[in-house]
Order: sequence, then C-alpha cells, then structure tokens
Amino acid sequence: MNILNFPERKRNHERVVMVTCYDFTMASILAESPVDILLVGDSAAMVMHGHDTTLPISVEEMAMHVRAVRRGAPGKFVVADLPFLSYRKGKSAAMEAVEQLMKAGADAVKLEGIRGQESLVRHIVDSGVPVMGHLGLTPQSVRQLGGFRVQGRNEDDRERLRSEALACQQAGCFSLVLECVPESLAAEITESLDIVTIGIGAGIDTDGQVLVLQDLLGLTSGQAPRFVRPFMNGRKQVLEALEAFAEDVREGGFPAPAERYAG
Ligand code: KIV
Repeated sequence: MNILNFPERKRNHERVVMVTCYDFTMASILAESPVDILLVGDSAAMVMHGHDTTLPISVEEMAMHVRAVRRGAPGKFVVADLPFLSYRKGKSAAMEAVEQLMKAGADAVKLEGIRGQESLVRHIVDSGVPVMGHLGLTPQSVRQLGGFRVQGRNEDDRERLRSEALACQQAGCFSLVLECVPESLAAEITESLDIVTIGIGAGIDTDGQVLVLQDLLGLTSGQAPRFVRPFMNGRKQVLEALEAFAEDVREGGFPAPAERYAG
C-alpha cells in the first residue's frame, strides 16, 4: 500500500483493511499478513497502558510506539494518531508533533475532527504529510460527547457530519475514518466523497474497515461494543498456554532434555 493506491482502491471498489498496532512483535506478524494499513492509534493509551480513555497519551509515547511498529513492519503503510490537544495548541506546536511522528517512521498522521483546523490540515498536507481524518465518535472528545456513544442519530448531527466529511476532503485528507455512525449515514458520506472512508462501527458500505487488533484477536476482556467481531479466542488460548507452562514447570516437565545445555 502506498499513498498513490488509495484513489484506485476507491475506484475499483477494493476494500481497504486497517488494524491498530502498537508494538514490534505484532507489527512483525502483521508484516506477513494481507492487512493494508497499520494504525498506531492513540487507543494505545487504553489497550497498551490501561487508561480509561485515549486522553493521557503523549506525542513522545506515540512516537515510541511508531518506532517499534516501523521496525517490525518496514514495508507496511503506517498511520500515526496525533494525540489529544497536540494539534490544538497552534500551528508550530502541531507541526512539531507531526514532525516527531513522521521522523519516528509514520507514512501519514490521523487527527480527529475538522472544525477550526481546516487550515492546519491544509498546511500539514502542503508540507508533504498525508492526513487521515476521523469523524463520528471521536474518542478524544469523549468528555464533551458524554461517553463513547453512536453519533449522527438526529438530522442536525447527520447534516453536520456530512459537511464535516466534505470539509476533510476539501482540506486535503486522503482518507477518512468514520467511527460509530449509523450505516445509512456512512454509506451516504462514502458515496459522496472521492476519498476512501474506513469504518469502525459504521456498517458495511464504507470503502474499508478498521478494528483494534486486540479486539479482533479476542484478547480484550469485558463487554465489547456490538461492532467488534473477535476472529479468534486469543485470551482463552493465551491462558491455556500459560496453564500448560505452569503445569509443566511445577511437575518437572519443563525444560525437557532437548531444551537443556549439556556439559
Ligand atoms: O486509536 C484508534 O484505535 C482509532 C481507531 C478506533 C480508528 O482511532
């Protein structure tokens, strides 16, 4: 995947596959997979660091995750999230954050929302950095949204999201994540835009889909949102492996002779 492939994927109706990734080991597995894009999402704050929201993660921490992912998957298209408020403190602070993530190895940056930052997005794009937009449920605004809830439920919200999606395209975004919006709205936006839309909880009609890797591997505990499909029962399999290891250690079955150094 290359930035130049996105328009042709949209034209040819070839769906784009994106997953989140935050570390070297998973990146090295994803490097061998048919996944198109690795998103170093600020969901790392929750998935990797155990916070309740994405707000606490810093640019430096994001850059560390990007470096690890780039080392694991040198050939993949890597998108890095600009963390909470890092692009709302003036153009030069925003550009420093963009610089850190790009120098860490990202191919593009993603930021949430568009209102009040149209000219910033244009400036980032004109500086040679591809930008992915993100509308609908924008987790960095969770305090203002009053929780992680579906957006675009009433006609005013739907109209706002339609015009914000167009504003993302006009500002130069090469693609747009639509998170937790009704399927019909995501379909309408996808149809109306020239750029690729990537959905999460946005139905079947977007140009691509994204999931958090740990969710799709079934590693996450607790109640998952309805849009999550675990493609394996990773948590159970990891626990089974750990039970087998503990049992073999306790019963003297590990290490076996072939796993020891003689002499
Ligand atoms: O940080 C993240 O994981 C994301 C996806 C939900 C799109 O932004």
